[in-house]
Amino acid sequence: MHYESNSWVWEGVYYYPHLFGGLMLTAALLGLSTSYFTGLGVPHLPFLWSDLGIFPKKKNGKKRIRVYMDGCFDLMHYGHANALRQAKALGDELVVGVVSDEEIVANKGPPVLSMEERLALVSGLKWVDEVITNAPYEITEKFMDTLFNEHNIDYIIHGDDPCLLPDGTDAYALAKRAGRYKQIKRTEGVSSTDIVGRILSSVRVPEVSQDHNGSLCGEPHKESQSKGPHVSQFLPTSRRIVQFSNGKGPAPNARVVYIDGAFDLFHAGHVEILKSARQLGDFLLVGVHTDQIVSEHRGNPHPIMHLHERSLSVLACRYVDEVIIGAPWEVTTDMITTFNISLVVHGTVAESNPLLTGENDPYKVPKSMGIFRLLESPKNITTSSVAQRIMANHEAYLKRNAKKAESEKKYYAQKKYVSGD
Ligand SMILES: *[C@@H]1O[C@H](CO)[C@@H](O)[C@H](O)[C@H]1NC(C)=O
Ligand SMILES: *[C@@H]1O[C@H](CO)[C@@H](O)[C@H](O)[C@H]1NC(C)=O
Ligand SMILES: *[C@@H]1O[C@H](CO)[C@@H](O)[C@H](O)[C@H]1NC(C)=O
Repeated sequence: MHYESNSWVWEGVYYYPHLFGGLMLTAALLGLSTSYFTGLGVPHLPFLWSDLGIFPKKKNGKKRIRVYMDGCFDLMHYGHANALRQAKALGDELVVGVVSDEEIVANKGPPVLSMEERLALVSGLKWVDEVITNAPYEITEKFMDTLFNEHNIDYIIHGDDPCLLPDGTDAYALAKRAGRYKQIKRTEGVSSTDIVGRILSSVRVPEVSQDHNGSLCGEPHKESQSKGPHVSQFLPTSRRIVQFSNGKGPAPNARVVYIDGAFDLFHAGHVEILKSARQLGDFLLVGVHTDQIVSEHRGNPHPIMHLHERSLSVLACRYVDEVIIGAPWEVTTDMITTFNISLVVHGTVAESNPLLTGENDPYKVPKSMGIFRLLESPKNITTSSVAQRIMANHEAYLKRNAKKAESEKKYYAQKKYVSGD
C-alpha cells in the first residue's frame, strides 16, 4: 500500500523519490525518469522478469523485516556490494537510499557518477529490493520518521567505520538512540578513495595544465608512475566468492548466453549490457578476462581493478548467473561445448573493440557457427570515460583524496580484528 504515492516500479525494484527539495527537484526527477527509463514507460511492471525468477518473491503472512542502508555509491565497487549483501542478511527486504548529487557536492565534493548512473548500479545489485532516490546525506529526525512510518523500515544499517557529519557529529546518532540501528563489518581492501588513487597514480599528470584530458591508453609505461603507492589491500578468499555466487547451474534445457570482457571499473554501461544479454536466454555466463589479457589489449595501466575484484563486481549483478574467473580471449569450440553456450554476444560500445581493430577476431568460432550476435549497447559510458572524468578533475580529486587517504592510512594502522562476514 505504501508503494502508491510518488513511487515507481522498474523491473521489480521499487523507487521512491525523496522530495526534500520540493518542486524543483521533482521536476528534475521527472526528467531523470524519462531518460533513465527510456522506452519502458513509468511505472513499468516487471511482468517479464518476475517470470524468470530473478526477483525475490514476496511471501505472504509473516512480517518481513525491512532494513535500510544508504550511501553515495560513487564509483561503486564490490565493497559497496558486500556491504549491501551483509545488510540484506540482517533482514528480509533491503531498501537502499542513494544520496543526491546536491548532497554529495555539499558534503564531499562533486561525484564522479551522476545520480542516474549510480541508480543503475545500485538497482543492478542482486541484494537490492527497493531504492529511495535522492536520499539525504544525514539521517535527520524527519527523514528517519519517513523511513520508519512510510517505508516501514525496521532497522537502519551502517558499517563499523565512523560516519561523521561536517560538524564532527555521528550521522547515525538518532537511529542509535531509537534502538533501530545495526552495524555490519567494513569490507576490507577497497574504497572509492583507493580506486581514485589507482587511476590518478596510473596516469602521468599532464604538465600543461590546460590539457586535462590525459589518456589512459597507449602511453609508454613509466614504472615510477604505475600502481606505485596504491597497492591493493584486497585479499581474495574463496568464501567471498561463494557469498556472491548464485550457486546454481543452468536448469535443464536452459538457453545459455555468453558475454565476455574486462568489466573494469564496473559501471552503469556494464549493468545495461548484462541486462540486455540476459534477456536473450535463461542463463547468463560471463567471461571476465585475466589481468594479462586486459593489459595486453588496452595498455599497461589497465586493468585498474584486478581479476578477482572485477569478477566480484560482475557476480554481484542481478542479471549474471555464472562467471568464468579468467576467461580466454578467444571463444573456442571447447568452451561452447563445455557450457552448452547457445549464443555469444558482444556490445557495440566497447573499449579497444576487437571488431574494429585488425586483431584476431576472438569471435571467429561462434560466428562460423552462426551463434554470434552484436548487441546495441544501451549506454555510451566506458571504463576510460569514467577514468577520464576523474582525470579531468584531477586537481580537485587529488586534494580530496589526500585528505581521505590520510584517514584510511590511520584506519589501517589502528585496525583490530572484528568478527563477522
Ligand atoms: C585531448 O588532448 C589532445 C592533445 O593532447 C587534443 O588534441 C584533443 O583535442 C583533446 N581532446 C579533448 C576532447 O579535449
Ligand atoms: C543445450 O542448450 C539447448 C538450447 O540452446 C537446449 O535445448 C539443450 O537442452 C541444452 N542441453 C542440455 C543437456 O541441457
Ligand atoms: C553516444 O555518443 C555519440 C557521440 O559520441 C552520440 O551520437 C550518441 O547519441 C550517444 N549515445 C547515447 C546512447 O548516449
